[in-house]
Amino acid sequence: MSVAADAAELLEIAVHAATAAGRLVRGRPEQVSVASTKTSPVDVVTAMDTAAETLIVEQLLARRPGDGVLGEEGGLRPGSSGLTWVVDPIDGTVNYLYGIPAYAVSIAVVSGQPEPGGWTVLAGCVLNPVTEEVWTATAGGGAHLDGVPLTGPAEVALDKALVGTGFGYVQARRRGQGRVLAALLPEVRDIRRAGSAALDLCALASGRLDAYYERGLQPWDQAAGVLVAVEAGARVSGPGGLSPSEELVVAAAPRLHASLLLRLTELDACRDEA
Ligand code: IPD
Repeated sequence: MSVAADAAELLEIAVHAATAAGRLVRGRPEQVSVASTKTSPVDVVTAMDTAAETLIVEQLLARRPGDGVLGEEGGLRPGSSGLTWVVDPIDGTVNYLYGIPAYAVSIAVVSGQPEPGGWTVLAGCVLNPVTEEVWTATAGGGAHLDGVPLTGPAEVALDKALVGTGFGYVQARRRGQGRVLAALLPEVRDIRRAGSAALDLCALASGRLDAYYERGLQPWDQAAGVLVAVEAGARVSGPGGLSPSEELVVAAAPRLHASLLLRLTELDACRDEA
């Protein structure tokens, strides 16, 4: 079987699992409560995060029992095939908690080390259970929204750019992010903080944002969305033009990417404030 056929099959498996999880997540109860917290008291987990991840992992391993899984809630379960599924059952958990319809199921499959920079993302799928939009991409095979090919964000000057970003959950990180944001805000068209990195990257791929940057994204926040953005034609990097990573993810059309990355470097965007 060719590599392209493999990627298409892996994508089909991802979409199947995301669709099942999306159906579960769509049944959001009127009152959602916090089941536990992670990196800080505002970094929450709901019962639905755990239930959706369990369902996704069952679905993936039923089809690909030798693969590993790296899940936001369950951590790393190593496999033997060299492929790892990177799963965020609900990216945008705080939106889910409050009933704001901007959260997503994000599933990608990677080869190599299960961490940004060490992996090659082969296929990815981001599904918004509320709007039922499904973004998909395969490495070298383009990106699609509901089956329609995406052509990525437009080239605009930084001062005309609508820029998406997000914030971490830990105070020192947020202070640093606030410092960068305060400098950047007067220099761009406007800023959006939608609350789901996966949806931000897909919005960029769909031309709904001109640029996106964020410091502190976890592997599951970025795996599928970065592939969708890259395959739509965006340039996506980390600091210094290296691979996107937890340090920093910067995404835009190539010339805007260069100017935003330069500005973020000047603003020392990879520095947290004690
Ligand atoms: C979060 C969202 C948010 C981003 C945070 C992420 P979660 O993921 O993607 O937009 O700003 O950095 O942690 O916690 O909702 O899965």
